[in-house]
Amino acid sequence: MFRSGEALFMGFVVRKEGQVRGWIDRCPHAGLPLAFPPDRYFTQEGDLLLCGSHGALFRPLDGLCVGGPCAGKRLLPWAVRVEDGDVVVA
Ligand code: FES
Repeated sequence: MFRSGEALFMGFVVRKEGQVRGWIDRCPHAGLPLAFPPDRYFTQEGDLLLCGSHGALFRPLDGLCVGGPCAGKRLLPWAVRVEDGDVVVA
């Protein structure tokens, strides 16, 4: 759980193709966290992020939903960066 001003949110970080992205853990379909069970975000193939509630699929580097009930919408970004090999909140 993280804080931004007055807002509390859940976030997660993915590494893919040498790049790091942070996303707010809230599906644009119904507002639920993606991971089900907790901390399992990628599909078995490891190419897309999966929302465990209704099956939406997201590209991990730009957050675009490419399948499921919210196709065309995006995850909300969470600004992170890599600093000396560690992921830190930007
Ligand atoms: S809440 Fe994610 S697909 Fe419905």
